[in-house]
Amino acid sequence: MANSGIPESPDMMVRFMRSGEIFTPSAPIDNQALFAGRVNQLNRIIGAVSQRGQHAILFGERGVGKTSLANVLLKILRGSQEQFKSVIINCDSEDRFEQLWCKIFLELENTQNLDFEQHQVNPEFIRLRLQRQIVGSAIIIVDEMDRLKTDAYFTAFMADTIKTLSDHSANVTLILVGVANSVEELIAEHLSIERALIQIQMPRMSSEELTEILLKGLDLLSMTMDREVIQSIVFLAQGLPNYVHLLALYACQSAIRTNSSNIDANHLTQAIKQACENAQHSIISTYSTSIYSSRQETIYPKVLLACALAKKDDTGCFRAVDVREPLSRILGKEYTTTSAFNRHLNQFCEESRGKILEKKGVERHYRFRFVNAMMPPYIMMEGLRTEMINLEQFQS
Ligand SMILES: Nc1ncnc2c1ncn2[C@@H]1O[C@H](COP(=O)(O)OP(=O)(O)O)[C@@H](O)[C@H]1O
Ligand SMILES: [Mg+2]
Repeated sequence: MANSGIPESPDMMVRFMRSGEIFTPSAPIDNQALFAGRVNQLNRIIGAVSQRGQHAILFGERGVGKTSLANVLLKILRGSQEQFKSVIINCDSEDRFEQLWCKIFLELENTQNLDFEQHQVNPEFIRLRLQRQIVGSAIIIVDEMDRLKTDAYFTAFMADTIKTLSDHSANVTLILVGVANSVEELIAEHLSIERALIQIQMPRMSSEELTEILLKGLDLLSMTMDREVIQSIVFLAQGLPNYVHLLALYACQSAIRTNSSNIDANHLTQAIKQACENAQHSIISTYSTSIYSSRQETIYPKVLLACALAKKDDTGCFRAVDVREPLSRILGKEYTTTSAFNRHLNQFCEESRGKILEKKGVERHYRFRFVNAMMPPYIMMEGLRTEMINLEQFQS
């Protein structure tokens, strides 16, 4: 049977659809059975919730699993308390302090309209209204804080709200979720609330955690995966769980189409091809701008691949010397200096090459970083798809 198209038997179709419920590259998890790892972060956040006067900030890169953690936290807490209210809201770029709380109260009070016009919506008003509303306890999760256009007025009001809730020991926990900088901005100016606000960083996922995502999903689908395939997927994902979901989904579906319950390297190859084809438009276009050349044979894609493979520090930065070793591996010749590709690295930081990298520091000590964290896995998959490198060479 061809390794494409729709599954032939109803039985296969059921499995095929089920795989899409278990591996969800574009949706956060809200089912505990599918949630992997994050034990430390979950414990810390539950600690904050259990302590009166304590609130939390959950921050990390886009796509590391913040919303999933918030969802699962609510699932766990709902099961543990009787009179428990919870709200999770998403911020919009137009939201100001007032609109934000309006959204929260609409959910919390389960109503269509509030009498907000008659009041000054300030931190004291918020606290009083919350205390009046909440019997038992409550959690309010404000997700995607980074989408707000925050200003001094907003941050001051938000900080004061946290402070007054904390001072009055109100039985409500605020959890602010967002991409790192936005959250730093929020607290940097208001160190006085730090005591009341614990900061929980969501790092990228460890290899063990990523493997757990795969194993849990496979188990639920009654499928298996060759060990090398698991390792390859975990490596390609670079700590980002959405790539694990994406490759697992496509590889599973590829196996289901061939009526196999085990996923092997051929299925992964298919999955990589599919992932490259379906990548976000912005990723594809930045990539092709960055490697553009009018000549057939060019070194740009290879240098870029070497950048994707280069050893990075905690913040995702690498130096030119870190590119030497992977580039030697890709081209099969030894590079002892960086002079052959320094120029390319600098060009990758320019508009004409899509600004795929950014550069920090001073000359001779530059550090480079991919502007979009989702880019390196895509570059590696392109490298595999176009056979610039193969899976064995990859992880050596
Ligand atoms: N702990 C986890 N276990 C399994 N999958 C996860 C976990 N955390 C995140 N994911 C998956 O990773 C992707 C991104 O997660 P999401 O919660 O939306 O991240 P963020 O809110 O940080 O942008 C989603 O596909 C989600 O299903
Ligand atoms: Mg999110």
